[in-house]
Parts: sequence; C-alpha cells; structure tokens
Amino acid sequence: MFRSVFIALSHAGWAQRAITHWGFARRAALRFVAGETTEAAIEAIRQLNAHGIYATLDHLGENTTSNQAACQAADEVLSMLDAIDRSGVSANVSIKLSQLGLTVSPETCRQNLKRILDRACALGNFIRVDMEDSNLTEATLEVYFWARQQGYENLGIVIQAYLYRSEADLHKILGGHGKVRLCKGAYKEAADAAFPKKADVDANYDRLAELLLNDPVQTGLTPPENQGRIPPVAALATHDNQRIRFAKAAQIRMGLPNDALEFQMLYGIRRELQEDLAKTGYPVRVYVPYGTAWYPYFMRRLAERPANVWFFISNYFRP
Ligand code: FDA
Repeated sequence: MFRSVFIALSHAGWAQRAITHWGFARRAALRFVAGETTEAAIEAIRQLNAHGIYATLDHLGENTTSNQAACQAADEVLSMLDAIDRSGVSANVSIKLSQLGLTVSPETCRQNLKRILDRACALGNFIRVDMEDSNLTEATLEVYFWARQQGYENLGIVIQAYLYRSEADLHKILGGHGKVRLCKGAYKEAADAAFPKKADVDANYDRLAELLLNDPVQTGLTPPENQGRIPPVAALATHDNQRIRFAKAAQIRMGLPNDALEFQMLYGIRRELQEDLAKTGYPVRVYVPYGTAWYPYFMRRLAERPANVWFFISNYFRP
C-alpha cells in the first residue's frame, strides 16, 4: 500500500508540479541526486573514486514525448560521455530507452542509441540500459538485442528479479554473452507479471544471481581490465545484506575471484556498506543520477523505504 502510493505519485503530473516547487523537496532529493549539473555530478564521482568506488552516471529523465526531446536527451548523453573522458573519472553511463524515444518511435530510439554507442566505443566506455516498467520490457530487450546484433559489445542491460519472465530473459541474454545488472525492480507491477511477495522476489534474486555468477565460469570470460569503466558480466545491484551475503558465498564456492562480479548501489544509500565492500576487494559501482528531472526517481526512492519519507518531511522543518 505504502509503496503503491509513492509509485502512483511518481506518475502524477499534479503532484510533480506541486512537489518540484517546494524548496525543501529539492533539498531532500539532493540526498539521492548528485546535483542539477554535469559538473556537480562529476565532482560527486571524484569523491566516490577517491574511496575506490566506480560510478555509472545517469542524466535523469524518462518518457520523452517527441522525437526532438528524445534527440536532445541523446545529445546530453554524448556530452556526459565527453565529460567523463575529459575529467578522467572512473565511470560509465546508464540510460533509459524511454528517454531516447522508445515510446515515440522505436526507430528514433535505435538511431539515438547507435549514436551513443559509437561515441562510447570511440572513448572506450560502456552503456547500461536501465529497465523500466513491464510495459516496456519487451521493447527494451528488442532494442538491446538489435544493438548487440549490430556488433556493439560495449552495451549491457538490466534484469528485474520481481518479473516472472526474468529467468528466461537472463538465459537469452547470457546465451549472447551479454552483461547484466540484476536488481529487484522498482515499479508497480500486477500480480500476473511480477511476484507480489517480497520473499519470492528475494528468492528469485538469489537464483538469478547464481545463474549470472555461473556464467563467467562456463564461458571463460574474464573480469574487466580497464579503469573501472567496463563492468564484468555479473553486476549485482542491491543494498540488501542477505542478497550480498548469498552472492559472496556463491562466488567463493564457485572459486571465482572477487572481481568476477561487481556490487552496485544507489547514490546516497548505504554509503558505509559501499566503502566496506570496496575495502575488501570487491568492485563497487554507484549509480549517480543528476539533472533537473529528479521527481519520478525521488518518488521511487521514497517508495522503497518509509524512513525516507520521514527524512523528506524533516527537511521541511530544517532552516
Ligand atoms: P530492499 O528494497 O529489500 O532493501 C534492502 C535494504 O537496503 C533496506 O533494508 C535498506 O537498508 C536499504 N535500502 C533500500 N532502498 C533504500 C532506499 N531507497 N533508501 C534507503 N535505504 C534503502 N530498478 C529497476 O526497476 N530498473 C533499473 O534499471 C534499476 N537500476 C538500479 C541500479 C542500481 C545500481 C541499483 C542499486 C538499483 C537499481 N534499481 C533499478 C532499483 C532496484 O530495483 C530496487 O528498487 C532498489 O535497489 C531497492 O532494492 P534492494 O535490492 O536494495 O532491496
């Protein structure tokens, strides 16, 4: 119920118009968002890199409604790639295909993605396609497989453990030697698409994490060799102690080195855990969102944890 309310708010135009005008809401969002400019985001990445943590940079925005807005969003990603290159930070880039025009014109989306992948290739960087709600799963995977067929190696995808279809999708992606970020899933889904119970999502997360970890063994793929830009096949995105413990035990049991996988977390969440994992030799990558379109992202973070709502409200009372 709590989660549903905040996810519904993330789509509500009236709520967005009201909340984005509140100064205290912007202040609270800054716990999860690295700022509104590329410079602020690069500075946040520098601080993470200083603690041995890599980043994946995301220019906030989703569901563009015109070809022009989609092409502008792609231009912004190109300048992010250039900014990463110029600054020399250890970061790659995450994108959402609905931002690049997936729901307006799949052809525009493919051409925007191609421009981005060409620039990333030229700069030795990597692009991760985030996964959005299940209405877009099939279309997102289609564009991902299209790009892989064009020969782009510097592209990875996200799989959500809460969807019933994810195990079959994971097999297909790994069959094509793809790289996967595994997360639980952040959207509101119907019971015919996703496990309604958290315990079932957690169990599926562990099952899929094990499949993913098993893949580098079978295919002989080696972990990344670059400066923290190209991730390994297995990227486990979670802040959940039990999921992390399970994955570490599986990795050790399979005889894999620590850098055969990468743990990923969100900016502003469980910073100490991020640093502890990095200190023990696990690659850690933090998802660093920035930009002015922070509203839906912020609402999804509030939906994940009641304590965040109290944090949000307490900002109202701060001077
Ligand atoms: P869970 O929600 O069970 O939380 C475990 C613990 O983590 C909590 O007890 C708390 O301590 C901490 N925690 C979790 N969320 C918190 C929050 N918001 N604030 C404070 N503490 C929190 N989703 C998606 O659908 N598509 C995608 O592409 C991505 N991409 C992505 C990238 C990365 C790097 C991460 C870490 C996550 C995503 N997600 C995502 C979001 C993901 O699906 C999920 O909603 C969140 O990660 C929360 O799930 P946990 O696995 O952390 O577990």
